[in-house]
Amino acid sequence: MRPNASFPSARPRRLRTTPAIRRLVAETRLHPAGLIQPLFVAEGLTEPRPLTLMPGVVQHSVESLRVAVAEAAAAGVGAVMIFGVPEERDATGSGATDPDGILTVGVRAAVEAGGGIPVIADLCLDEFTDHGHCGVLDTHGRVDNDATLQAYGDMALVLADAGAHALGASGMMDGQIGAVREVLDAAGHLDTILLAYAAKYASAFYGPFREAVGSTLTGDRRTYQQDPGNAREALREVRLDLAEGADIVMVKPALAYLDVISRVAAISDVPVAAYLVSGEFAMVEAAAAAGAIDRASAIVEVLTSVHRAGADLVATYWATEVAGWLNGTER
Ligand code: PBG
Repeated sequence: MRPNASFPSARPRRLRTTPAIRRLVAETRLHPAGLIQPLFVAEGLTEPRPLTLMPGVVQHSVESLRVAVAEAAAAGVGAVMIFGVPEERDATGSGATDPDGILTVGVRAAVEAGGGIPVIADLCLDEFTDHGHCGVLDTHGRVDNDATLQAYGDMALVLADAGAHALGASGMMDGQIGAVREVLDAAGHLDTILLAYAAKYASAFYGPFREAVGSTLTGDRRTYQQDPGNAREALREVRLDLAEGADIVMVKPALAYLDVISRVAAISDVPVAAYLVSGEFAMVEAAAAAGAIDRASAIVEVLTSVHRAGADLVATYWATEVAGWLNGTER
């Protein structure tokens, strides 16, 4: 019997018969250039320190960071994204604007070792403040938006001077893109790219990252990061960041927010990125370690899905590893 008498030739399975045909008609392709590798560099380390909550991920020493950046570049990864972990923190996050601070030193090392691979520096205070918030606090203990913008401007100059090609504005302060753009332009850093964490949600999936950067945060970030139930609000955030001059807009996390990625992609006229965050990484790794899912297939599937939803770029802790697979024989 024919599957459909009215349309006898409609057989979608025809395009799935062999790996070569499936490859030919694939709508979404993973490519190393679309992947961004986040890397942590910690002050005072002489060798890398493995993270307990993120298998295979380490806090780098400056020397091991160089190696990791060179490996990412050799694998054809699109960009690296550097987070600094200082030894000392204070109320204003002054380490963030120290030209000899760990993030600045790491960015310089990454630029030197990377042979041109774009180096994105994280632009946020949370790793540097003793209270762990992404900004400075006012006398009532609330995160002071406009005082924080001042600090972000200072930090942006230090990082751009260190050679960062792009700055990842991850703090979710209102007006951060416009404020940082103005400071950069006034200093002649016209080509420093602003990657706006435009729609960043207050997510439980950042859990392992807090270990990775030794975060001291108590409480939450709900007065500045978005409510997970709100998608329309993400579009407002994106429009504001575009108007302020964002060069790339990002949605974060990725897997729990595929609809948001899709809606953002529909309105953005700049590239769209998504960040597959630490908890999403840990979830796949834990399920694979338990024998519940095949690790490599699951990784390829989730990265493909984030692209399919509309992200041109995906920040993922698997970037260098997956780029290696893509450069090898076809999976
Ligand atoms: C804050 C920042 C966070 C992450 C990246 N930048 C944590 C937070 O907002 O609490 C999380 C990334 C991840 O979980 O992989 N600057």
